[in-house]
Amino acid sequence: MLTSLERIYDVLDEQPKIRNRENPVSRQIQGNVVFKDVSFGYRSYETVLEKINFEIKMGEMIGIVGASGTGKSTLINLVMHLYDVDDGELLIDGININDYRIEDFHRQLGVVLQETFLFSDTILNNMRFAKPDATYEEIIRAAKMANAHDFICKTPNGYNTYVGEKGYNLSGGERQRIAIARAILNDPKLLILDEATSSLDTESEYLIQKALQRLTAGRTTLAIAHRLSTLKDADRLIVIDGHKIAECGSHNELLEKKGIYYKLVTAQLQMQTLKEGES
Ligand SMILES: Nc1ncnc2c1ncn2[C@@H]1O[C@H](COP(=O)(O)OP(=O)(O)O)[C@@H](O)[C@H]1O
Ligand SMILES: [Mg+2]
Repeated sequence: MLTSLERIYDVLDEQPKIRNRENPVSRQIQGNVVFKDVSFGYRSYETVLEKINFEIKMGEMIGIVGASGTGKSTLINLVMHLYDVDDGELLIDGININDYRIEDFHRQLGVVLQETFLFSDTILNNMRFAKPDATYEEIIRAAKMANAHDFICKTPNGYNTYVGEKGYNLSGGERQRIAIARAILNDPKLLILDEATSSLDTESEYLIQKALQRLTAGRTTLAIAHRLSTLKDADRLIVIDGHKIAECGSHNELLEKKGIYYKLVTAQLQMQTLKEGES
């Protein structure tokens, strides 16, 4: 079966070098994530993350924030087990991530990235590839949750509309909503969103934002977003700086702290104001 993770390997610069350990466990994951002194670098001479410690509780929505290149995606890559940690331990539901059978683990993740991959096929088949035995009802339910059902119904052939190169032209927001519907079709307990709304206009982003509030209920969510305002409802925000978790707290707590998060938010607001002044 083709999982969404297998598509992700295609966008990585290199194939992940991870391997199954002996007697790997196959287990339904619940979504508790613990970093214990985790260090990692893509190259031995270049540390990206150093001695990261934190716990994400089942069902929590966590926003990961930091300047470009600080290691936000890297942190998520480790949780997705695309790479082994160099040092320390990453535990999922109290079990070392290395002990899970890799294919099983990957199949249980819901992942939405910035660049959405859709096949030249029908909307239905694009959604179904995450779960080939999904019923029509399950597909519609996922599409409704992702705010995609209404626009799908308005396309020429509904769920049977052909998309892609020679098919119906979807907008970026529509593609992303299909990707989200696909990601939740398996009802994943761990949902990963890396810049999932960054390339969208404000209106599409708003629609997806509304959908996300519904989607994150009952699952652990790790989200990276270019526009920080989209993360302000997260249970907690983690700010990465200098290879470490520099700040952690709610949007309001971190604003009050007037530290890195405050600076990032203020800088983004100023950019926004400048742009509005120009137009
Ligand atoms: N596949 C890779 N191989 C080597 N270095 C990488 C790779 N991916 C990211 N990096 C480096 O790791 C650091 C953190 O990158 P990344 O996690 O993508 O940052 P962010 O998502 O915060 O922008 C950067 O210095 C980046 O150049
Ligand atoms: Mg990134």
